[in-house]
Amino acid sequence: MYQVYPRSFADGNGDGTGDIAGIRSRIPYLASLGIDAIWINPWYRSPLADGGYDVADYREIEARYGTIDGAAALISEANEAGIKVIVDVVPNHTSREHPWFVEALAAEPGSAARNRYHFQPGKGADGAEPPTDWTSVFGGPSWSRLPDGDWYLHLFDSSQPDLNWENPEVRAEFLSILEFWLERGVDGFRVDVAHGLVKDMTWPDMESETDELLTANSQENHPFWDRDGIHPIVREWRALVDRYEDRMMVAEAWVPSLERLALYLRPDEYHQSFSFDFVGTDWDPSEFRRIITESTTKTATIGSTTTWVLNNHDVVRHPTRYGLPNGTNWRAWLLDGPHDILDAELGARRALAANLMLLALPGSAYLYQGDELGLPEAWDLPIEVLDDPVWERSNHTRKGRDGCRVPIPWTSDGPSLGFGDGEPWLPQPPEWAEISVEAQEADPNSPLAMHRKALAIRAEELVVSETLTWVDSAPEVIAFNRGTIECWMNMGTTAVDLPADAAIVVASDSGQATSGASLKPNTAVWLRR
Ligand code: NOJ
Repeated sequence: MYQVYPRSFADGNGDGTGDIAGIRSRIPYLASLGIDAIWINPWYRSPLADGGYDVADYREIEARYGTIDGAAALISEANEAGIKVIVDVVPNHTSREHPWFVEALAAEPGSAARNRYHFQPGKGADGAEPPTDWTSVFGGPSWSRLPDGDWYLHLFDSSQPDLNWENPEVRAEFLSILEFWLERGVDGFRVDVAHGLVKDMTWPDMESETDELLTANSQENHPFWDRDGIHPIVREWRALVDRYEDRMMVAEAWVPSLERLALYLRPDEYHQSFSFDFVGTDWDPSEFRRIITESTTKTATIGSTTTWVLNNHDVVRHPTRYGLPNGTNWRAWLLDGPHDILDAELGARRALAANLMLLALPGSAYLYQGDELGLPEAWDLPIEVLDDPVWERSNHTRKGRDGCRVPIPWTSDGPSLGFGDGEPWLPQPPEWAEISVEAQEADPNSPLAMHRKALAIRAEELVVSETLTWVDSAPEVIAFNRGTIECWMNMGTTAVDLPADAAIVVASDSGQATSGASLKPNTAVWLRR
């Protein structure tokens, strides 16, 4: 699965913002990668206060991205090229510009219009205190007050009011939205904040800060993350999706344990739920081994598989994460530094190795646009260009997620490196010219070539079985067998011997010999024995 962030993939009309026309023009490229499907981040009508996760109309396309006809054409052209298309659904909250919220603002406290959201009176003598002490994921309080005294809940930005999923009208509306897109031929849905829909409506205080960005902490009976009431809702969606042939749903559920994650993967719920374990893990072989072992074993016991993720539009890109000393808080490092601790070359090598390893694992793998180029975080974006609401809501203490959302470099020159004719909505680091698609197309040893080779072998040979068998190796080496292929990744600091009888079929390091060699630190190979 390849994640397309529409705002930053390709700009077809030259306004500096990526769009549907841009994606359509790049379908041949997507097909050339050998991926099975794309996931498109929200493309609905939106003020783009949170990159489109603030939806004003779930049945319309944002004008900056294109039209509903363009979306339909994209779906059919991608399908014709052998690529399935899944779209994002954002059920936890709408935009403040959604007609329901506009109506709620105009209505009285206690009205039916307000009951589609979470409006509550405040605490304290004059109601001046928010109903609970919950903090927003983006920073600051998760309640905002209206002039009439009512407060409304927003787990994210104040422009993203949370919907009330106890209200049958909300449930019916989302079934209808899913149906609308199923009828338009989408192959499935990525469900945003799947672990957040249901709130404890006795409105208890938490007396502690929300964990950083989206993560459910391990508190039992958490007032807004991962509540059991979510699952009956999912079952309703699944019953609808099952009425259509060959469609799927993947959950974005940041939950504290595999046991909790497994609940989302029950046969009548999601087909996939992201495993975010690698995202939160340093370059540490014992942690990698633990994650792979636990996740593959646990998901197998429930008849499911793991959905692996190293990167997405919410996290610092992994060539940068892996170039920082273990233990660095990379979200804070973006702003606070010190920036000279970054070893970009080391991070690039490790990230490529990790991708090769990821593509050998059983289960599904999600790549984020630019992963195939080894694109690092644009960590030094000037403050003036920041767009992520996290920057303002955190009182300028967190730089936010713009650095992983910088437009793709398609060519090695031109004002936006081939992204489009206009000035890109975020500036691209000039050195990205050297790692553009164009530069890599000309190089058989590029990261792009490695991904194509690995994806082709994966499709031919690996997906036939979900079995992983560990191969005896030094503790700093991750080595496992997947039938015809053995994957070896050296996470240590010295070279290790590879089996003498092995032929190397793909390598993350272009200098790697094709057989009987040793494996350098921070590199990975696929072998045939
Ligand atoms: C998760 C999305 O991935 C993120 O980008 C967004 O800000 C939040 N959900 C809120 O919708």
